[in-house]
Amino acid sequence: MQVIDLKKESIKSKNTLTDAELCTEIKRLKKEKNAVILAHFYQEPIIQDIADFVGDSLKLSQQAASTDADIIVFAGVHFMAETAKIINPNKKVLLPDVNASCSLAESCPPDDFKKFIDAHPDHIVITYINCSAEIKALSDIVCTSSNAEKIINSVPKDQPIIFAPDKNLGKYMIEKTGRDLVLWDGTCIVHEAFAIDKILALHQRHPKAQFIAHPESSPEILKVASYIGSTSGLINYAKTNTSSEFIVATEAGILHQMQKEVPHKKLIPAPSKENNSCACSECGFMKMNTLEKLYLCLKNESPEIIVPKEIREKAILPIERMLNLSK
Ligand code: 13P
Ligand code: SF4
Repeated sequence: MQVIDLKKESIKSKNTLTDAELCTEIKRLKKEKNAVILAHFYQEPIIQDIADFVGDSLKLSQQAASTDADIIVFAGVHFMAETAKIINPNKKVLLPDVNASCSLAESCPPDDFKKFIDAHPDHIVITYINCSAEIKALSDIVCTSSNAEKIINSVPKDQPIIFAPDKNLGKYMIEKTGRDLVLWDGTCIVHEAFAIDKILALHQRHPKAQFIAHPESSPEILKVASYIGSTSGLINYAKTNTSSEFIVATEAGILHQMQKEVPHKKLIPAPSKENNSCACSECGFMKMNTLEKLYLCLKNESPEIIVPKEIREKAILPIERMLNLSK
């Protein structure tokens, strides 16, 4: 793999290219190389706006499965680009910043997870897509926050299930499905940080607002939410619900697409525990990608995501099961 000095390249291009020029160059390179840009709702607005497709984890995987582009540039985090590579072993998959990880994926090291599975021998393993390729290779079915309930319900009622790595989504699924899931103890640093006291105080100041939350949030947050859903579920709810004000508990990047969908509605980011000066929550991993890094990765075709064949051949099976169950 070619390793480029991003810092050096970054300084060079900063001196020469404005955002508008970077956008022009990205569009030109995309056409020239038959590349597609897939972006998650948590990306910077300028990246969402230049992407060919913006979506939640499920929609982005489905898009990766159906694209005829030669290169996929994944403006998201590592596990998302890795999933796209597992689905498309013969395509080049690029991630603008190779260090864009995820606290949930990091919370589940493969050796420890293997021991956990071995300690629950009769269990089927359902893993949230926010995990590494190695973890997917140890799994039976993958799910996202938009299809977790459907995937769990597809498993016979008497079949015990391990659910990993997000314990908050897991607890919410226990409530929704009535199943006794064995949970891995992982969390998302962004969704764990929402502050219930601040949210309740904010709601008192905006009594007409609907409080909506992503299921990675902790149980005390979900308990007071009038709607719980994936990023696309939250956007759709803001669109279809008659309310004109929403307090939104998920990564703040979502507000860009949400506001585009409901330009006349007021969207208020839910406050987090540590963030006293700024009222919103941002995922530092998602925000590692910049327009400039997007341009550089397309130009240099690097950093490229590589998944070893033996991992890929195992990891594709639970992903395909999810895609088949989500048609
Ligand atoms: P969804 O977009 O699938 O809801 O996932 C949210 C998330 O945390 C992605 O990292
Ligand atoms: Fe991972 Fe949370 Fe960031 Fe999503 S928002 S990438 S779950 S750390």
